[in-house]
Amino acid sequence: MKVNAIAEAITAAPAVNQRAPDMSAAPALDGLDRPLRDLRLSVIDQCNFRCTYCMPRDVFDANYRFLNASERLSFDEMMKLVRAFVALGVEKIRITGGEPLLRRGLESFIEKLAGLTSLSGTPLDIALTTNGALLAARARGLRDAGLARVTVSLDALDDAIFRRMSDVDIPVARILDGIEQAQAVGLAPVKVNAVIERGVNDNQIRPLVRHFMNTGIAVRFIEFMDVGGAAGWSNATVLSARDMRAIVESEFPLLAPHDAVESSTSVNYRLANGQGTVGFIASVSQPFCGKCSRARVSADGQLYTCLFAKQGADLKPWLGDAVSTEQLIEAIQTRWHARDDHYSELNADRRRSGQRKTWPTVRMSLVGG
Ligand code: GTP
Ligand code: 5AD
Ligand code: SF4
Ligand code: SF4
Repeated sequence: MKVNAIAEAITAAPAVNQRAPDMSAAPALDGLDRPLRDLRLSVIDQCNFRCTYCMPRDVFDANYRFLNASERLSFDEMMKLVRAFVALGVEKIRITGGEPLLRRGLESFIEKLAGLTSLSGTPLDIALTTNGALLAARARGLRDAGLARVTVSLDALDDAIFRRMSDVDIPVARILDGIEQAQAVGLAPVKVNAVIERGVNDNQIRPLVRHFMNTGIAVRFIEFMDVGGAAGWSNATVLSARDMRAIVESEFPLLAPHDAVESSTSVNYRLANGQGTVGFIASVSQPFCGKCSRARVSADGQLYTCLFAKQGADLKPWLGDAVSTEQLIEAIQTRWHARDDHYSELNADRRRSGQRKTWPTVRMSLVGG
């Protein structure tokens, strides 16, 4: 099955070289025996928001040098890349940014992606992470193109708090409209992600649970991480998943965790009232590196094997027509084999001994969270 599926993935690739694919290519395991299952592909590094924890406006200002169009991978290059990742075992593609809906032509790219099949013979799971501001008008087209599901970032229901965190003059109602449209056209599941900063939006936890109760939309609360871009991060700003859960439970009792997917980032609970699901992403207090099967590629074709990597590996030299997809597969496989990243675990140890990250890591807006 695997051999056929690889052959299929390769056959579908541009005919640049007829060399037989390396069948030992799948599945790729890294240095800590973790398979490569998820690809998070950033299609643009720009965003129409300036979330204080990701793209603070004083850094990401008018003088900030974003990638220009010629530095970004074309969708054809991205297709070649995705085919190679699929041949190595990737089943899930999450399209990210910056804000991915700012990239023109995204729908036709998704249409092409939707034609690919994973090694196990199932269609690829194609998801999108968005801030939701442009979603209402685009939801139907995205669904028609073959997008399966969408995750919308929404940190507050209160307009003033939302504006303070996103640093844009957009009402929450517009994001809620995007979420409703996504659900109405059948993107499923729709998830809502909220980064919680202690003392900033922790009073939004219960309103968010309340709002999305009975809607079929799962809300997931994320611990604030010291990623590249999170200028104001300190230990004191992190509200642990445990504390967030206590806040939820003060109004909505929860039932034991369920539907644990091995490599999942979130631990999910059902509301005891049967009216919804809530998840917690404890990347800081309970790191989940042990099962991390995620690779990230930035819009300019750098492969990052960890959200906290200092540097990526440039895949662009392998993306031109003169280089075969098999060679690209080999290049990615070599990099994945060498992978031993487990930053969040190391950092938890470091914090316990009072140390902090002292080096700059890739900015979140380049690899899309
Ligand atoms: P599903 O595909 O629905 O399972 O979503 P996901 O949890 O894989 O991805 P999502 O984009 O919803 O991730 C939610 C948040 O979890 C991100 O915005 C990050 O804050 C955090 N996160 C995701 N992946 C990682 C990771 O590999 N390491 C760490 N430390 N945090 C991550
Ligand atoms: N900590 C945690 N999550 C973050 N994101 C961005 N910056 C951070 C951070 N400092 C995540 C948010 C957002 C996604 C695009 O990236 O979940 O929804
Ligand atoms: Fe944009 Fe998302 Fe970063 Fe906010 S968190 S600035 S919406 S990429
Ligand atoms: Fe994966 Fe790195 Fe996140 Fe750990 S810190 S879960 S290795 S991306």
